[in-house]
Amino acid sequence: MALGSFRPTFGRAEAMPEHLRLTDCAYCGGTGWELVEGKGVRPCRCRKSDRTAQLLAAARIPKRYANCSFENYQPQGPPISKNYLSQAQALSAAKHLVDEYPNLEMGLLLMGPCGVGKTHLAVSLLKQLVLVKGIGCLFIDFQDLLKDIQHSYNPVSESSELEVLEPIYAAEVLVLDELGAGKPSAWVRETMAQVVNMRYKESRLTILTTNYSDDPACPGGETLEERVGARLRSRLFEMCKTVVILGDDYRRRVNRQRGDLVSLNPPAGGAAGNAGGAV
Ligand SMILES: Nc1ncnc2c1ncn2[C@@H]1O[C@H](COP(=O)(O)OP(=O)(O)O)[C@@H](O)[C@H]1O
Ligand SMILES: [Mg+2]
Ligand SMILES: [Zn+2]
Repeated sequence: MALGSFRPTFGRAEAMPEHLRLTDCAYCGGTGWELVEGKGVRPCRCRKSDRTAQLLAAARIPKRYANCSFENYQPQGPPISKNYLSQAQALSAAKHLVDEYPNLEMGLLLMGPCGVGKTHLAVSLLKQLVLVKGIGCLFIDFQDLLKDIQHSYNPVSESSELEVLEPIYAAEVLVLDELGAGKPSAWVRETMAQVVNMRYKESRLTILTTNYSDDPACPGGETLEERVGARLRSRLFEMCKTVVILGDDYRRRVNRQRGDLVSLNPPAGGAAGNAGGAV
């Protein structure tokens, strides 16, 4: 997905959910103006939901995560386990951010292994900011951003085209998903650090997710700092509260449970044990 095409799709009916299209409005019949008996017209009540739909479309939430919400995030594991508590804490940190916005100094860095719901929580948070507070938000995949920065490199000015970076600077709240997923060149690193720094200076909130840890003894070896560089990591300490989420990969868990269900109802002639634990 090219960042150059990251233009809000304001005013395009096809970007809106069907039920919110202006022509369906019972109050204004699609004109945007509602008739008030004896008084004339006023802007129609549908305009607010219209703006919400526009903001949601402009946030670029990936389809796969469209249904994620705080309500359907269920901390996993026994309620007193470290995993459960870390997930419950992450959920309440995300909710707290929505409640307190804009009276906050720091965003969130959701850190943890694959499948613990980091993207789920980041998307839920974005959606709530749009729905409850009407905030202009943007979801960006880190690897897509790296590619776009790389592709936009202008050898004459030795810089990236502003058009690519502008939406990243401009978004009131930005989610940068999977920080560290691609290993950038020194130049791209520098550009990334500048982008993040610019948001920091403008006090714009940034929410990040990463599979990389700060612990040098973490499995796999590489730390977040090694992936993104010391400058960016240290800036993030100032900009974001780090929330570590522990747990197993939710997708594997769900698959295993499905496997268990299958094993309770084995196909005729099948061995019950064979169907379980498919991951
Ligand atoms: N605690 C949870 N409750 C409900 N769904 C979850 C939970 N954790 C993860 N999921 C779901 O599992 C899938 C993987 O989660 P995701 O947010 O992509 O994980 P991560 O970003 O940490 O790798 C998503 O479909 C997400 O909705
Ligand atoms: Mg993720
Ligand atoms: Zn209307």
